[in-house]
Amino acid sequence: MTGYIPTLAQADELHHKIAPSQVAYDLIHTHCVIIATITRQLVRRQNALFMRRCTLPKDAPELTGKCGGKGDLPASGRVTDSANGSAFGAYSGDDDVETNAINGANGGVDDTQSQANAGANSGAGDTGSRTNPAINDGAGDVSAHVTPAVLAQKRNNSNVLDGINATVPPTDGVSGGIVPPRLLDENLAVVGAMLHDIGTYLVLKHDGSDGEKLQFDGPNYILHGLRGYDWLLSQGVDESIAQFARNHTGVGLTRDQVVAQGLPLPPADYVPMNLEQEVVMVADKYNSKSIPPRFLTAEAYARKARRFGSDNERQWLDLVKKYGVPDIPALAKKFDMKLDE
Ligand SMILES: [Fe+2]
Repeated sequence: MTGYIPTLAQADELHHKIAPSQVAYDLIHTHCVIIATITRQLVRRQNALFMRRCTLPKDAPELTGKCGGKGDLPASGRVTDSANGSAFGAYSGDDDVETNAINGANGGVDDTQSQANAGANSGAGDTGSRTNPAINDGAGDVSAHVTPAVLAQKRNNSNVLDGINATVPPTDGVSGGIVPPRLLDENLAVVGAMLHDIGTYLVLKHDGSDGEKLQFDGPNYILHGLRGYDWLLSQGVDESIAQFARNHTGVGLTRDQVVAQGLPLPPADYVPMNLEQEVVMVADKYNSKSIPPRFLTAEAYARKARRFGSDNERQWLDLVKKYGVPDIPALAKKFDMKLDE
């Protein structure tokens, strides 16, 4: 270890240090709080499944990955804890800004930026204070029964959850998922989630303080992961945390894709290096920094991934099967944000 592992308070300090404006802080920090909240839920679900592994029926879907639906995991599964560029599939875009950047949109004028122009100053100042408690309030309650919210969510994600008959009741609102090969480090993942998008402060076209409304620099948005990684290292943050910034794009961005798509990144694999990083990459897909920010159900993101091909969609669905489905409608309500179903 060559650097320090920030506390949550230090992660907030890093946001304040790099944020060029209050409106940028409000948008990006709030998104990170949400992703950290989802990350905590997914990690607790994984760890609950791990603790149950010895008492589950041998044919339990949490052990076999055989969920009966179209998205059955391949025999080898996707459970890995080492870098493997090919394991995480094609780039699908973190949000609309990246999506258009990768598709060569002219100057990054896209839906996200249009929305940013429309709403970046719309009172996001109280969002952080409203959402900050969420990251610290994870009591880790384990629901004993499938709640109405979960059932409603299953209806909303009927294609994604098709055939899942989980043996283990939902954990922290997360249903389904596959038993992991080890316990996950909750603190590492949550701190990583809080800092995963720190580089997006460095790819703003307008930071909201120059008379223009907040706007990302579309063509360069794809650089935010690497820039965030470099910035965190420059601040003395440990490599193990900086990697969360580097390796969360889409469903994994491989060297081949960087080259084939002519992305403005040094040719390399930008894929999760361990399970904690993979959880943050997955959690990140459930919330967009569009203005106004919004949540996406697993099914909504599957539709988005589909635009980049069936392989991309399949990789996302495999990740959903692996980590289970969070109660996104409940989170949208909690954070008072729009939901794409
Ligand atoms: Fe993000």
